[in-house]
Amino acid sequence: MKRLFVFILSGSLLLSYLLGRQVRIIKILSPDEKVQVQFKLAEGKAFYRIYFKNKKVIDWSGLGFRFKDQKPLNKNLEILAVDNKIINKRWEQVWGANKVITNHYQQNRINLQELGSERRLDLIFRVYDNGVGFRYILPEQQKHNQIQIISEDTEFKLENIEKCWWIPAHYDSYELLYNTTSLNEMDSVNTPVTMRTKNGLYLSLHEADLTDYAGMTLVQKNGDGVLHSDLVPWPDGIKVKAELPLKTPWRTIQIAEKPGGLIESNLILNLNRPNQIKDTEWIKPMKYVGIWWGMHIDKYTWSSGPKHGATTENAQIYIDFANKAFNSDSQEVGLLVEGWNLGWDGDWTQNGHKFSFTESYPDFELDEVLDYCHKNNVAYIMHNENGGDILNYGSQIEEAFDYYQKLGIHAIKSGYVAMTGIKNPPGQHHHGQYMVNHYRRVVKLAAEHEIMLDVHEPIKPTGIRRTWPNMMTREGARGMEYNAWSAGNPPEHSTIIPFTRVLAGPMDYTPGIFDLTFDKYKKGFRTYTTLAKQLAFFVVIYSPLQMAADLVENYENQPGFQFIKEVPVDWDETRVIDSKIGDYVIIARRAGQEWFIGGITDEHPRKINIHLDFLSPEKYKVKIYCDAINTGLFENPGSLEIGTYQVKNSDIIQAPLSTSGGLAARLTPIKAANDSLSLKPICRFNKMSEQKLQRFRTFKIYTSVTK
Ligand code: NOJ
Ligand code: CA
Repeated sequence: MKRLFVFILSGSLLLSYLLGRQVRIIKILSPDEKVQVQFKLAEGKAFYRIYFKNKKVIDWSGLGFRFKDQKPLNKNLEILAVDNKIINKRWEQVWGANKVITNHYQQNRINLQELGSERRLDLIFRVYDNGVGFRYILPEQQKHNQIQIISEDTEFKLENIEKCWWIPAHYDSYELLYNTTSLNEMDSVNTPVTMRTKNGLYLSLHEADLTDYAGMTLVQKNGDGVLHSDLVPWPDGIKVKAELPLKTPWRTIQIAEKPGGLIESNLILNLNRPNQIKDTEWIKPMKYVGIWWGMHIDKYTWSSGPKHGATTENAQIYIDFANKAFNSDSQEVGLLVEGWNLGWDGDWTQNGHKFSFTESYPDFELDEVLDYCHKNNVAYIMHNENGGDILNYGSQIEEAFDYYQKLGIHAIKSGYVAMTGIKNPPGQHHHGQYMVNHYRRVVKLAAEHEIMLDVHEPIKPTGIRRTWPNMMTREGARGMEYNAWSAGNPPEHSTIIPFTRVLAGPMDYTPGIFDLTFDKYKKGFRTYTTLAKQLAFFVVIYSPLQMAADLVENYENQPGFQFIKEVPVDWDETRVIDSKIGDYVIIARRAGQEWFIGGITDEHPRKINIHLDFLSPEKYKVKIYCDAINTGLFENPGSLEIGTYQVKNSDIIQAPLSTSGGLAARLTPIKAANDSLSLKPICRFNKMSEQKLQRFRTFKIYTSVTK
């Protein structure tokens, strides 16, 4: 049969179409020509592979679908048409780690048709300088418009992988510790999963724009280096139930020559649709405090009784603190109160059906608290824990959100605690299509009510914050709370999540614990960091809603708190200064003319070098908060050395980080610093003697916590 190939070409044509006897390879290059995707049909089955600077990173990997009550769509395909274009646009974020984002890629849309049938399948590849996104489109058809996908057969045949950072596939939770292993040892994973190749490249696989579809996990079947997509199922085993036309999420492959390149990439955001919210005035990144950590360390309870945390009186103490400490006239500050509403008595993790989202406990006067917030210029963050009872939550949210809007509330922190699967409807999973749609319904409803969201136990982030910028932040990894009631987050956890979970989007890690051992309330548990590392988290782990998580009394008379007061929650620019996944990471972020730096290390004390060559050619005042010479994870973890110096862009800050230690810094151009300090040159840090450094190395090295 004669085939008709139609090429509709626009932009500079970088498509080449090689006619072999059987196999035709379509090549798509990134704008800088470093990344190349190749596509072919072999015996009618679709395959792709990816190169970076002529090094193969993904070898021929299959594409296709299997359906219930329909034969698979993975062979006998022929190419109908190929449509090529180059896009180069810039857009602005409402908030984020970078203000202006460039979206520059070459796209090919390949229209396929099954021989002898009307079934069609389109593939869209977008090739960026730092990676690739591709998605399937199942166009509308005359027959078979209702489909049930039993498997999306996307493969990733990885080449030359040396190391992987990953958590196992789990349909309900991302709150797991990361593994660092060879590819062989990784039999299933939740995405993002990050890898290093033997030739020194960094890759991360994930997805973008997860809309009305199931979340994707990856499975390696025979230790053969091929990861297969494995979608999270409905209770009946079907993966996706849909009506055509259907667009899948983008399958994303980020590629970088340095690990920091993965963090600096905007590929996932770029693969989402533009902002749908017209008036965004009410969307305001902010820091917040809350009646929260007190419950985790047993000072308070969520439930009613003598230790009930959510009382009007306690809320007022927190509001006074927020107003005074943050000077709430000059910046947005919020208050979260958990346990305010009926339903927490008994085992709330098992009784989600008891939660009311509008009725408070008698010792919590919501109106009074809101009034006090208003007088003190503090925003109120409503708390909605639903214990995984989606039917109960879903039946109340319209009324509840109307009520919150009338009360002038613009933010909700929600929670979906249910590790073993959604409670109601039973058998659903946090990451299946049903829940993807539930979470999206809440985002849209919240947008209609001018409400920002911070979701715990969320669906994984896939960049929809671009489309719905009220979807501010989420948990979806082991956050600070794990230190309060488990063996804790080991020091290296926070040096892995910036390169895995946080590549997908902001995280509400809830940093800022100053009383690191909290023995007064709970013995045998602690936070496995130094205080300087807690400060550094505010820069390293980005969140537009950023909690100062400790009990407010623990911030009294603490000079380190100044950094939390001053650090922004919205940035113009983000740069990774230096990093090694699982060892250390140093990030600099700019807000206006100022830069803030956060550096953290794992269980190894180390000297870090911060080259200041990213600064403009003017003098800066730098205020540094760093582990002091006597700081150790087990000896004086709260000991801080704070100093103010003068620097320029040819300087290097050399700082000693203690075991699980950190450094936080604020850099202000001297002409804008508004004070005439005669600043010392940066000597202590530059002239750190080997002898002093040796002291750090003699500290007990953190290995593991056994409890
Ligand atoms: C788990 C959340 O991660 C935590 O922040 C919250 O305090 C509890 N659920 C209760 O909602
Ligand atoms: Ca949680």
